[in-house]
Amino acid sequence: MTTSETERTLVLVKPDGVTRQLTGEVLRRVEAKGYRIVALELRTADRDLLARHYAEHQGKPFFEPLVEFMLSGPIVAAVVEGQRVIEGFRSLAGTTDPTAAAPGTIRGDLGRDWGTAVVQNLVHGSDSPESAAREIGLWFPAL
Ligand code: TYD
Ligand code: MG
Repeated sequence: MTTSETERTLVLVKPDGVTRQLTGEVLRRVEAKGYRIVALELRTADRDLLARHYAEHQGKPFFEPLVEFMLSGPIVAAVVEGQRVIEGFRSLAGTTDPTAAAPGTIRGDLGRDWGTAVVQNLVHGSDSPESAAREIGLWFPAL
């Protein structure tokens, strides 16, 4: 359970979070937990970046709605650093479905079902060291 190795993870505030002006709230929770923001950018993604980012979901029924949703407005992308931050941010975010996500988590406190074809759940966080390295490379190639 303990490890001294510092990790980095990719955090995205998705278009629903940016539109709802929850960027500060998400970053506040990241910083309040003790993690460090080492890169931060507001940008609009393009289809190619999103296809690569969500490559594991290509062919699934929610893939197209997911890409359209991620193209619907600006995204805040951040690289966040700390001990076990990959697991730690996933824990802060809560489970994928915001209706089921535990209160106290970002998705559980701030998200809900809006009746859309894609689950709008405010944030993305890398799910493993391999995903984190790959995703940071996609969003922040200069890092
Ligand atoms: P996934 O990587 O499974 O979830 P997480 O973001 O928690 O790592 O899925 C990526 C996104 O796709 C998810 O955040 C919301 C959307 N999605 C749906 O719209 N419907 C679904 O059934 C799933 C599994 C995901
Ligand atoms: Mg995922």
